[in-house]
Amino acid sequence: MSLWGGRFQDGSSAMFRTVNDSLPFDRVLASQDIRGSIAWARAIAKAGVLSQDEHQQLEEALKALLVKADAGELDFDASSEEDIHSFVEATLIEQLGDVARKLHTGRSRNDQVATDFRLWTREHVELLVEDVEAVIASLVGNADVNQDVILPGYTHLQRAQPVRYPHWCLAYVEMLKRDLSRLHDLKARLNQCPLGSGALAGTTYPIDRQAIAEELGFDSPCINSLDAVSDRDYVLELLFVASTSMMHLSRMAEDLIFYNSGEAGFIQLGDAVTSGSSLMPQKKNPDALELMRGKCGRVFGSLQALLVTMKGLPLAYNKDMQEDKEGLFDATNQWHICLRIACEVVDSIKLDSERCAKAAREGYANATELADYLVDKGIPFRTAHDISGRVVLDALEKKKAIEELTITELKVYSDVIEEDVYPVLQLEYLVNKRDILGGTGIKPVLAALENAKASFIK
Ligand code: ARG
Repeated sequence: MSLWGGRFQDGSSAMFRTVNDSLPFDRVLASQDIRGSIAWARAIAKAGVLSQDEHQQLEEALKALLVKADAGELDFDASSEEDIHSFVEATLIEQLGDVARKLHTGRSRNDQVATDFRLWTREHVELLVEDVEAVIASLVGNADVNQDVILPGYTHLQRAQPVRYPHWCLAYVEMLKRDLSRLHDLKARLNQCPLGSGALAGTTYPIDRQAIAEELGFDSPCINSLDAVSDRDYVLELLFVASTSMMHLSRMAEDLIFYNSGEAGFIQLGDAVTSGSSLMPQKKNPDALELMRGKCGRVFGSLQALLVTMKGLPLAYNKDMQEDKEGLFDATNQWHICLRIACEVVDSIKLDSERCAKAAREGYANATELADYLVDKGIPFRTAHDISGRVVLDALEKKKAIEELTITELKVYSDVIEEDVYPVLQLEYLVNKRDILGGTGIKPVLAALENAKASFIK
C-alpha cells in the first residue's frame, strides 16, 4: 500500500512505477532508515504522540528489523513498496497495525531521506578513510624497502632529473593525505541532523531536535528546514573527493603503466594483478592499473550528473533529488575498489634497480649539475646553462654521456672545468645534493619517510 493513496482515485501506471520507485537502489539505506526511525519514535514519544507502551512496541519491532537489515535478511524483492521508507513503515504496520501507523507523525520522507543519506555518507566516509590510509601504508612500505633506488624523474615525459623511488612514492602519499583531509572536512560539515524539518517548513510537534541529533551521532540539528530537506552539498562533496582521489590514483596508474612497459622496464607487477592476452602468449598486461585509470570516467560522470541535476532546482524538495543516490553509490564503490586494488598493485611492485639507475644516468640528466658546477666556479648561471647545453650537444654527437667526455674535450667549452667535475656528475651525488626540505636527497626523503611511517604504519 502506498503512503499517499487517499487523494488518488486511480493507481499508478507500470511505467510510472518504473520511473518513480527507488526501492531497487535505496534499499541499501535500510539500516540508516531504521535507526532514524528509532530516534524519531523516541522523539515523538517524548512529545506525547506515543504512549510508553506504544513506544516500547515500536522500538522493539524496529530493533528486531535492524538486526535483520544488518544481517542482509530483509526480503525487498517480494515487496511492491515504492522506496525504503515505505518498505520499513509497511513492514512495521504488517506486524503491529495501528501503532505503526503513528510512526510517521510530524515527519516527512523529505527530512527522513535527508537524514538517512547523511548517515550513510558519514559511515562511508569513515570506511573510505581506512581505504585511503591503506594505500598510503602500501606506498610507504614499498618506499621503505626500496630506499636506495634512483630512477629518472620526468617533465614533458622527457627524462629531466633523477629522483629517489621513495620520493616518487611519497609524492602520491601527499596527494592521498589531501584526499584524507578533504574526507575529514566533509564529514565535519555534513554532520548536522535534518530530522524534525518535516516536509519543508519544520514540524508542529514539540520535538527535541537537539536530542535526536545527538542520538544519531550528529554534532547539531540543521538550522533551516528548507535547506535541510534540499541540501545535497555533502553528496557533491563526496563525489568531488572521490573524483579528485581517482584522478590521483589514475596518475599513479599512468606512471606505473609506463614504468612497467617494455621500454622503461623499471618495475615488474605481480601476476595476481595483471592478465595475459588470449592471442599473444608473451603478454602480461597491467589491467588493474588501466582500470584504475579507466574508472575515472564514471566517477567524474556522477559528479557532473548531480551538479546538473541540482542546478535548476527551486526550494525545497523535488523528486529530481532522488537521482542523487545511484551516482554516489556507484562512485564510492568504484573508488573503494580502486583503493583496495591499488594496495595490491603497490605491494606487488618489484623494482629493477639496475635498469632504473641506467635510465637515470642516460638522457643527460646531469646537465643541470654541470651548470651548477660552473656557477660554483664563478660563472653566471645563464652563461653556465649555455655552456652546459653546448657540452650536451657535443656529447650527443659523440654518442657519449657527459661524464664520458675527457677533460680536454670538456675544457673546449670552459677552462674552469677540472677533474673535480667527474664526481659532481655521478648519479648519487647529484641526487643527494638536493638536500633541501622537500627535495629528493637522502636526508629529506628519509625524514619524510619516517614521518609517514609514524603516521600510517600500524
Ligand atoms: N525516494 C525519495 C528520494 O530518494 C524519498 C523522498 C520522497 N519524498 C517525496 N516528497 N516524494 O528522494
